[in-house]
Amino acid sequence: MEGRVVLITGASSGIGAATARWLARHGMRVVLTARRQDRLEALAQEIRARGGTAMAIPADLADPSARQALVCQAEAAWGPVEVLINNAGFGYYGTVQETPWEVIERMFAVNILAMIHLVQLVVPGMRQLGRGHIVNIASVAGHIAAPPLTVYAATKFAVVGFSEGLRRELAPHGIHVTVISPGPVRTEFGRAASGLDVDPNTVPGGLDPEAVARAIRRALQRPVPEIVIPARYLPAIWINRAFPRLVDWGAAQHGRTWLRHLEEARGRKEG
Ligand SMILES: NC(=O)c1ccc[n+]([C@@H]2O[C@H](COP(=O)([O-])OP(=O)(O)OC[C@H]3O[C@@H](n4cnc5c(N)ncnc54)[C@H](OP(=O)(O)O)[C@@H]3O)[C@@H](O)[C@H]2O)c1
Repeated sequence: MEGRVVLITGASSGIGAATARWLARHGMRVVLTARRQDRLEALAQEIRARGGTAMAIPADLADPSARQALVCQAEAAWGPVEVLINNAGFGYYGTVQETPWEVIERMFAVNILAMIHLVQLVVPGMRQLGRGHIVNIASVAGHIAAPPLTVYAATKFAVVGFSEGLRRELAPHGIHVTVISPGPVRTEFGRAASGLDVDPNTVPGGLDPEAVARAIRRALQRPVPEIVIPARYLPAIWINRAFPRLVDWGAAQHGRTWLRHLEEARGRKEG
């Protein structure tokens, strides 16, 4: 991994920041991107202070020209991107009906369109090198869709499907593709999805973002098609696929309870 250039999206917090720290510690040259420049600069400085190599390039990945400028700037500085970690993403807690249309468009733009576009932008460099690895962050919600994250789940189902096809398309060129599907992780995801001041540490049964970072590193060392983390979600994924009716009732019930709590919390915030 030593000296390889890795581009990590969504590196200003959560899984992306933890992955950047982890991969820099193992000698990779990390290009950090997200919108919040102050956070990226602080993380790049922290990595450099520990003897690592990092560069921050702020970009709004909903904007196609920003994606293009990002890859141009990274490759002009350090040469072809050999590893791409497509991690940037967000969700929105709400029914399909009440999710604002602009949020839906933005979610698809960041969670899946940016991913596909970045792949188009970095693959020529990987093919020139004759090797590469693309890691796409999906979710357990990319296998089991339920309210209040139905739209988000649609973006993550797309990530899982895209990664499967891409893996088959790029294998002959020596480029690996891995999709990582985490369960709940203690990050700022809930804050962004709810618009409320949710403490990441209160995510029930939430994984430490470091655990996902370690899974990513394992996948880079020994490429596999997919990692579901924690693995205890695998039976639920199989049951949902084989017996969807069995899961329907519980998922709908859980969604209704969640939405009621959310409505109350949003009401308290406004009132
Ligand atoms: N936390 C979970 O429970 C969980 C579970 C499964 C999968 N995931 C997935 O894991 C990935 C990372 O999320 P996280 O949990 O680490 O949440 P997070 O702490 O909220 O991080 C999300 C990252 O995405 C970036 N981002 C959002 N919109 C962006 C945009 N328009 N342009 C560029 N960057 C953007 C954010 O940076 P800026 O705001 O600075 O732009 C931030 O760095 C996401 O794809 C998420 O769907 C999370």
